[in-house]
Amino acid sequence: PQRRPQSSKQRFVQELSQCLCDFVAQLLPTPEELAVKEDVRKLLERLIRSIEPESRLLSFGSTANGFSLRNSDMDLCCIIDSEERLSASDLVTMVGDLLARETRFVIKPLPLARIPIVKLSLPPSPGLPFGIACDIGFENRLALENTRLLFCYAMIDPARVRTMVLFLKVWCKRRKINSPYKGSLSSYGYVLLVIYFLVHVKNPPVLPNLQQLPPLRPITQEETHLNGYNIWFFDDINLLRERWKSKNTETVAELLIDFFKYYSRDFAYNTGVVSIRSGFILKEIKLPFFSLTCEKDPFETNFNVARCVTRDGLYTIRGEFMRASRILATRPERAIVALAQLCE
Ligand code: GTP
Ligand code: MG
Repeated sequence: PQRRPQSSKQRFVQELSQCLCDFVAQLLPTPEELAVKEDVRKLLERLIRSIEPESRLLSFGSTANGFSLRNSDMDLCCIIDSEERLSASDLVTMVGDLLARETRFVIKPLPLARIPIVKLSLPPSPGLPFGIACDIGFENRLALENTRLLFCYAMIDPARVRTMVLFLKVWCKRRKINSPYKGSLSSYGYVLLVIYFLVHVKNPPVLPNLQQLPPLRPITQEETHLNGYNIWFFDDINLLRERWKSKNTETVAELLIDFFKYYSRDFAYNTGVVSIRSGFILKEIKLPFFSLTCEKDPFETNFNVARCVTRDGLYTIRGEFMRASRILATRPERAIVALAQLCE
């Protein structure tokens, strides 16, 4: 049978998908980097056990959720399995002193932060051209759970979900709109925007809502709750990969184009809250246009992940979504040119 010739749009989208995959593939962490990070984790765990013998040091954040880029920071969480333990701020001070004595890391303990952490860093060296940046927190079990949730989402459809998320992480960094300290959104926030889009906006959805799927067996309140928050989600990845067949067949480029369009034009920032568990939620108080955006944590549902986003920050972020949308709508001759412009 004769095949219809591809339109210029089809050609662009196909080429862009390929470019996105190639682009992201070069930015993944190397096996060497992962090995160094694992060595660092083990070393720190061994040292911390001299203070708290019953402790485990676990990775969370991007090193553990499937959305890691080369040279990303290390997020570590110390879990102590004994009943009697020191407070997080005492631990931060003690662990900070210990690591300053026993290692070559530059140590900055922050015992009084909302979440007390020890910050460690190694400056760049020939063997580690980007150095290492690492945060150690204590007993932050919710962060371990949201890491596991994101990991499951990453694994259901890695070709589309991981490519999209990793590209957006690079994009928001290059466009300088990913620092909560300066009034924009954290990378965690952008990941949630992508998942929300793939679960709740796309029709048919690309991803199932893992927090609303029916469990395979009855589960008790104790199993599902942590610190008063419902942390349950469907986490049998093998079963999901076998059973979840999305009817959505869009390519990663089509999804990205639509993502930018949605967040620049269609999302009702003035009235809506993004929640990956519940979908679109109306804000309780209707705030004026361009008021602070609201993004709920998947578990800590009273917590606004976008709390640092200022009015100007949101204005800039939306401006960037619009800019990206415009570049993709003009469809330059070569997809690679579009990609370069996006990340300029
Ligand atoms: P990169 O470090 O940029 O690669 O991404 P990341 O996913 O590691 O993000 P980041 O280092 O900013 O945060 C690490 C982890 O901390 C996230 O994956 C979450 O588990 C947790 N986290 C960060 N910000 C928040 C927040 O606002 N609320 C909650 N509940 N957890 C957060
Ligand atoms: Mg991180």
